[in-house]
Amino acid sequence: MSYKKVILNEFGGPEVLQVVEEATLPAPGASEVRVKVLAASATFTDTMVRKGIYYGFKETPPLSPGYDMVGVVDKLGAGVTDLEVGQMVADLTVWGAYTEYMIRPEDSLVPVPSGLEPVEAVSMVLSYVTAYQMLHRIAKVQRGQKILVHGAGGAVGTAMLELGKLLDLEIYGTASKSKHELVKSLGATPIDYRNEDFLARIQATGGVDAAFDAIGGENFKRSFNSLKKGGTLVAYGFYDQAMGRGGNVAMDYMSIALWNILPNGRKAVFYSIGALRKKNPEWFKEDLTALFGLLTEGKIKPSIERRMKLEDAAQAHALIEQAAVKGRIVLVINEKLLLKI
Ligand SMILES: NC(=O)c1ccc[n+]([C@@H]2O[C@H](COP(=O)([O-])OP(=O)(O)OC[C@H]3O[C@@H](n4cnc5c(N)ncnc54)[C@H](OP(=O)(O)O)[C@@H]3O)[C@@H](O)[C@H]2O)c1
Repeated sequence: MSYKKVILNEFGGPEVLQVVEEATLPAPGASEVRVKVLAASATFTDTMVRKGIYYGFKETPPLSPGYDMVGVVDKLGAGVTDLEVGQMVADLTVWGAYTEYMIRPEDSLVPVPSGLEPVEAVSMVLSYVTAYQMLHRIAKVQRGQKILVHGAGGAVGTAMLELGKLLDLEIYGTASKSKHELVKSLGATPIDYRNEDFLARIQATGGVDAAFDAIGGENFKRSFNSLKKGGTLVAYGFYDQAMGRGGNVAMDYMSIALWNILPNGRKAVFYSIGALRKKNPEWFKEDLTALFGLLTEGKIKPSIERRMKLEDAAQAHALIEQAAVKGRIVLVINEKLLLKI
C-alpha cells in the first residue's frame, strides 16, 4: 500500500518541502510499532530543522520534518506486548512526523486517553510539555507568583499562559499588537515589545519571579535584569538568531553560565525538552500524561488558529516564519480516519 509524506531533499526555505508518495508501508522491526499518524504540529522548531540550523541536529537530507505526532497503532513488531492495534499514541519524534505512517520504538510512545481529539492532543507534546516542564520542573513557580513570558502569542507562549493561569500567576506577555487580544483572553497582560520597553514595564511592577525567553541575545540580558531577587531566567531558544537577526549562541550560553556564578541573587538556566527527556525519560511521560489529564478535564484548551493538510506544510512554515500565526498550526493527516475518532 502506498502512503504520502513530506520530505526535503535539501535544507532551505519553505519551498523545499514537497509531498512524495512512497510505494510500500514501512515494516516495524522487533520492539517497534508502525503508527498511522493522525496529526502533527507545525512549529517554529520544524522551520529550523528545515533550514538545517537546528542546534545539535545531525540528520541530513533527504528527511521529513515533524517534531511531534499523535496517531493510532497500526502494526506491532515482534515482542511488542504493551500496545494494541488501534490504540491512540503520541510521541516527540524530533523529525519525521509529516507523514501518514511512521515507525517508532515501542518504549517512546505515550498512550493518549480515548476521547481526546488528536489535533488538541498533539498540541500537548512539544509546546505544552515545554511550557509545563519550564514552569514546574525548572523555575518551580509557586501559586500567585509573577512571571514574564516572551512570544506570548505563539505556540509555547499561549501554552505558558494557559498553564500559568491554572497556578493563578500574574503574567506579563510580550507580543506584537495583532496578538494582544489573544494574550488578554488567556488572562495575561500584553506588552507590545516593538513599541514598549518591556524591562521598564516589568521593573515598574517590582520585577518578576521568573522570566521565560526563547528570543536570545540582548533579550536574555534584559529578561535577567527584569527578575526580582531570588528569581529565575529560563532561556530556551534563539528565535532572533534563527530568523537571521544576529546573535551568538555560544556567547549566550556563556552569559547564562556567568550570571549563575556571579553573586547577584538570581538564577539563569537553559531548558531543552530533548536534553531533559534524555536525562529523565519518565518525566516526559509523566508530564505529557498529566497534560492529557488536564485536557480531558477541560482545564486547558490549546489555541489552534489553523488546521492544515500535509500538502500545506510549506504554506504553514511560511506563516510561522512571518509570525502570522496566533497560537498554533496543526497538520491534520489521515483525515478520513480522524473523522471516525
Ligand atoms: N528549548 C526547547 O526545548 C524548546 C521547545 C519548543 C520551542 N522552543 C523554541 O521556542 C521558541 C518559540 O517556539 P514556538 O513554537 O512558540 O514559536 P512560534 O509559535 O512561532 O511563536 C514565537 C512567537 O514569538 C513572537 N516574537 C518574535 N520576536 C519576538 C520578540 N523579540 N519578543 C517577543 N516576542 C517575539 C512571534 O510573534 P510576534 O512577533 O507577532 O509577537 C511569535 O508569536 C522558538 O525559538 C523555538 O525554537 C524551544
